[in-house]
Amino acid sequence: MSDLTVQPMTGAGGAEISGVDLAKPLGEKTFAAIRKAFDDYLVLVFRDQTLSPDAFESLVQKFAPLQPHPFVKPVDGHPCMIMIERKADEAQEVKIVGEDWHADAPWLENPVAGSSLYCLEAPPYGGDTNFCNLMIAYDSLSEGVKKTIEPLILVSRAASGADYLKSQQGNKSMSYDLSTDIHKECEHPLVQIHPRTGRKVLAVTGPYGYKFKGWTEKESKPLMDMLLAHATRSEHTFRVRWKKGSLGVWDNRCTLHQAIKDYPGFARRMLRLQFKGVRPMGHAMPETMVAAPL
Ligand code: SIN
Repeated sequence: MSDLTVQPMTGAGGAEISGVDLAKPLGEKTFAAIRKAFDDYLVLVFRDQTLSPDAFESLVQKFAPLQPHPFVKPVDGHPCMIMIERKADEAQEVKIVGEDWHADAPWLENPVAGSSLYCLEAPPYGGDTNFCNLMIAYDSLSEGVKKTIEPLILVSRAASGADYLKSQQGNKSMSYDLSTDIHKECEHPLVQIHPRTGRKVLAVTGPYGYKFKGWTEKESKPLMDMLLAHATRSEHTFRVRWKKGSLGVWDNRCTLHQAIKDYPGFARRMLRLQFKGVRPMGHAMPETMVAAPL
């Protein structure tokens, strides 16, 4: 515990944690310090870790029980783990997983609380993941916009994301199963209260949230586009650089992320897990204010 250090990455979030070997069982105090850093910095990066798939699962399960990915075929023997892979000879025009700004599975009644990547192979340069902080994005809106969006309910469905996944079907390395009910809609407050910190979150979701409740898609799009552009302004974002053995874990309730496709001719392989969350709460849906624990 005494060796653990937390080095903040940027004013928008992210921290590198050193002095901890994640392959060894973590004491309660050590994990409490990691959890506190997670609440404070939203994205944590641990370097030079040597982890088996089982050890990767044991670590991530400390945050919350694991949740299987709805579309991507899992790694053999690990039903909640997927491999995100791009081969060196993949055509540059083929989309990569997560290329557009997005939250993970926001169409679920209880969206995932967080996700984690463990890097098995990184390109010599490029292949970063970009993150944005949706709490400072909310804070930096004008009072007028805050008041306008507070009562809005965002309607999400996996289908818009599935169109995007289908566009990756040329990808040689990934295997998808889109047979789940991808058209099922889910409603969540646009302005959410983070269940651990109580801070307000501008809960835009990228491609999945496609309209506001009671509005048409056409009516919703301009405001949706403005809010996404605001959320992803440079001063709200930060990038994680990956190396073999890096492990990153992020809070999916208050960040969006985007994989950057800038490493043609090089391979990238990451193991990925995600963990369960609770129903998002917000004043726009008063029933959620009592349903979800603070
Ligand atoms: C993801 O969207 O989960 C993947 C991000 C990445 O590969 O950088």
